Amino acid sequence: MASPDHRSPRSAAAPPALLEMRGIVKSFPGVRALDGVDLRLHRGECLALMGENGAGKSTLMKVLGGVYRPDAGEILIDGVPRQFARPAESQAAGISVIYQELDLIPQLTVAENLFLGRERTRAFGFVDSRDEARDTRDQLAKLGVELDPDARVETLTVAEQQFVEIAKALAVDARAVVMDEPTAALSQREVERLFGIIDGLKGRGIGVVYISHRMEEIERVADRVTVLRDGAGAGELRAGELDRGGIIHMMVGRPLEAEFPKVKAELGEVLLEVEGLARPPKVRGVSFAMRRGEVLGLTGLVGAGRTETARLIFGADAKAAGSVRVGGREVSIRSPRDAVRLGICLLTEDRKRQGLVLGRSVRENFGLPNLDRLSRGPFVDEAAERRKFAAYREALAIRVPGAETPAGSLSGGNQQKVVLAKWLERETEVVLFDEPTRGIDVGAKVEIYRLINRLAADGKAVLMISSELPEVLGMADRVLVMHEGQIAGEITDPGRATQEDILKLAMDRDAA
Ligand SMILES: Nc1ncnc2c1ncn2[C@@H]1O[C@H](COP(=O)(O)OP(=O)(O)OP(=O)(O)O)[C@@H](O)[C@H]1O
Ligand SMILES: [Mg+2]
Repeated sequence: MASPDHRSPRSAAAPPALLEMRGIVKSFPGVRALDGVDLRLHRGECLALMGENGAGKSTLMKVLGGVYRPDAGEILIDGVPRQFARPAESQAAGISVIYQELDLIPQLTVAENLFLGRERTRAFGFVDSRDEARDTRDQLAKLGVELDPDARVETLTVAEQQFVEIAKALAVDARAVVMDEPTAALSQREVERLFGIIDGLKGRGIGVVYISHRMEEIERVADRVTVLRDGAGAGELRAGELDRGGIIHMMVGRPLEAEFPKVKAELGEVLLEVEGLARPPKVRGVSFAMRRGEVLGLTGLVGAGRTETARLIFGADAKAAGSVRVGGREVSIRSPRDAVRLGICLLTEDRKRQGLVLGRSVRENFGLPNLDRLSRGPFVDEAAERRKFAAYREALAIRVPGAETPAGSLSGGNQQKVVLAKWLERETEVVLFDEPTRGIDVGAKVEIYRLINRLAADGKAVLMISSELPEVLGMADRVLVMHEGQIAGEITDPGRATQEDILKLAMDRDAA
């Protein structure tokens, strides 16, 4: 299909774009997040918005969604200038935004969240919850998701919450749908389902803005790519012209070396052994051993029991059966405190909820688990904290105006880097990493891989739980694949294996 040339939108023949943002400027104290950004979205098109952590992607979408008032610039819908003072006004104009930080209300049920603000009522204003439950089930079924409409959102996994959020966005009559890192918590199969949904939206003439750090997804789903760098437009590409190197260069401002800078460390003695670890129904007898210097990949579909396995090792949940040995000695881990004392740390996948105190400064967050190490007597040594943090800020390219900035004002990816820094600073022997690079931009990913290399080289054992198969194959020494709470298979030479090899094991152990 011929789309109007985006370089001459105002030529007489071309109809106005579905959505246009022109010269958008938005500043926060100490940061000019957007510095004159343009964006155009056509009907039935999927536009990918890319850029490093902190480039301004989410801020631009919050301006579109009526969350922030821009300092300058204009928004046009069908060529008509519009101003959105509140999210409701943006919604009424047909714009539906799924924000990076999901904004479901944890204490409400799935159905209540879906119908928030547009409750179905019967006579006398009572909410018709049976009707809502039925509709909720239908909406979710359309997405291929089976969830109890009466389940409270806080009991769902991050992936399930993501689908509820998508269902909520689609339930209103939208002309443009924005998805800010929608796949961060989804497995391969769920991502495919989402792409089917996006194709359906495009077919109905709806425009989609899609934000992701995953290049494979962009190649699969985008018709056009707009790249932001430091709050300004860095370039634009059409689907036919996409090349990884080019996009990365545009995003980072320089070419990137190796995507997976794997260095094999020398393997030492067995450090951690788990045997028959179980907590049915999620974990049903998991056994493996990790040696010093080893990076062990653990993958599988969402719900296969990977995160739950890590939580059992860490003592975050009580195990029903099984034993854990550290350095050949059987240990009793009843709480995360016990685990930490034994030199085991867990970086959770849901870093936002479990990792940061958003109202506190970046420095304080960095120091929180490190108090015993950096403090002298009862006083926190702020200078030492600041110095240590500065080193990580540099190594991980954390974009933050200063160490005293509240953690909550950082971009999503930069918040994750702070949590990473905080745990890496801790003396640990066994590092359990749950989705270490989720939501992290390409440049910083490489830095995290280098850190993983360094941990291994220092003789630590690293468990890398990840749904990103290229990353698992590129960085692990060995890969375990989980299926329905058990280890379905092992890949001993990831360097030579393919994503299909993993998927076969992950989908169906009988087929393997
Ligand atoms: N509410 C806020 N207060 C202060 N600064 C903010 C606020 N929101 C965003 N910023 C700053 O604006 C810049 C752009 O952030 P934004 O969240 O738009 O980045 P992003 O491109 O979405 O990054 P990511 O890939 O990490 O999600 C960052 O420097 C961030 O710290
Ligand atoms: Mg963002």
